[in-house]
Amino acid sequence: DPGSEFVVVANRLPVDKVVDADGNVTWKRSPGGLVTALEPILRKHKGAWVGWSGAAESDTEEAEVDGISIRSVPLSAEEIAEYYEGFSNATLWPLYHDVIVKPEYHREWWNAYVEINRRFAEATSKAAAHGAIVWVQDYQLQLVPKMLRMLRPDLRIGFFLHIPFPPVELFMQLPWRTEIIEGLLGADLIGFHLPGGAQNFLYLARRLAGQATSKGTVGVRSRFGVVQVGFRTVRVGAFPISIDSGELDTQSKSKDIRSRARDIRKELGNPKTILLGVDRLDYTKGIDVRLRALSELLDEGRIDPHDTVMIQLATPSRERVESYVRMRAGIEQLVGNINGQYGEVGHPVVEYLNRSVPRNDLLAYYVVADVMLVTPLRDGMNLVAKEYVACRSDLGGALVLSEFTGAAAELRTAYQANPYDLDGVKDAIVAAVEQTQAEGKRRMRALRRQVLTHDVEKWAKSFLDTLTSTTETTSSAN
Ligand code: UDP
Ligand code: G6P
Repeated sequence: DPGSEFVVVANRLPVDKVVDADGNVTWKRSPGGLVTALEPILRKHKGAWVGWSGAAESDTEEAEVDGISIRSVPLSAEEIAEYYEGFSNATLWPLYHDVIVKPEYHREWWNAYVEINRRFAEATSKAAAHGAIVWVQDYQLQLVPKMLRMLRPDLRIGFFLHIPFPPVELFMQLPWRTEIIEGLLGADLIGFHLPGGAQNFLYLARRLAGQATSKGTVGVRSRFGVVQVGFRTVRVGAFPISIDSGELDTQSKSKDIRSRARDIRKELGNPKTILLGVDRLDYTKGIDVRLRALSELLDEGRIDPHDTVMIQLATPSRERVESYVRMRAGIEQLVGNINGQYGEVGHPVVEYLNRSVPRNDLLAYYVVADVMLVTPLRDGMNLVAKEYVACRSDLGGALVLSEFTGAAAELRTAYQANPYDLDGVKDAIVAAVEQTQAEGKRRMRALRRQVLTHDVEKWAKSFLDTLTSTTETTSSAN
């Protein structure tokens, strides 16, 4: 096997392995925006995807699913607890999202993170052809670029971070901060969603890795978005991710989706206003923020419970991590309080689903929603906001969007609000509910122009073009 010319490495495979009672294996789409973005790219570029199947396992597996060649990296139950639930999602995830909950620092978790990153690097090294392009994804695998370079100096290695890269003062808490920065510097190109993340990284690279070592001096030329690591050049830049907007635009216009959307409104009793939230059940998403805002608006009589329904789709996520258990209880209590106070039998104000819904249903919800509520306390990008816009070829609907999402930098004509300012969020919701048709169209047209002209294919091309040109420069300099 000569290996693949293009390899994506991510903690998760694009599909989760599901084994039924008879031992039959099927695969179902795995959660999150990373998969949404990269799945169409890999399908077009015909590569291999190295990742974990989502279950506790001891053997590797190779399969072909929907035209993507899959190589699984096995994790035991203990490794899942320490590397995935522990270091990835109870240390790095909260640290990189403004310490919304307190990150936990445990040396055993770190040791597991190092070990599993090495396993991913080794699996990738086996899957990649000579001189292949390898694209490492996200915070779970920040040591892989350096480890992989040691194994395979022939590869071109890119890294993209799908979540925010934190402010310097917060990152400096991490006991293993230098190892993480050096791990990332093994790549030829490091991408972030926003220029601010790239700036934070450049500063930290200079501060933490910028010392004379036995192998030579490591210096940084941050003005050019370049880090010089000995003789090697590492480029650093901002590449805001997106969605397959053309595809969503087309699908959302289909008869099927349109009629499903009408049915949903009917089933809800034809309310005047449908509010919608679509999120993984994660404390970064500010689901509590929008529920509190709704509750106060109902108390104040600014929203009428008789002609308003809020649908909240909350995909289960990281359910064994303690902060997620606590947050879920809080949100379900808020939902219960609102329905207890303002609902009628057979007509709750908040329709809450704690499961993932089929893709077609999701598009119908986007099409029917009068106001989309995206209120994270911090979010790297937020693809849900872009998906809503891509589905509104009718120029209907309104988007309420937290300033603290990556998407806010592009979606300027959304009703933006600071999620920590509850009165501001309430005003944004009321403005969106009460907008005139002309105002709504003006805003949606501008949002759609941005989303339809900046799709995920363009994102991948811009990253991969930069990666390819980078390596040529590096080798000619050597
Ligand atoms: N999503 C889905 N099914 C659901 C709910 C969400 O496929 O029931 C998808 C949604 O369409 C989006 C992704 O999950 O593509 C969430 O991405 P986002 O960037 O908004 O947030 P993340 O989960 O990556 O933090
Ligand atoms: C976010 C992260 C991804 C992750 C996804 C789902 O999008 O950036 O790396 O895969 O959430 O989370 P999970 O822990 O279920 O993989």
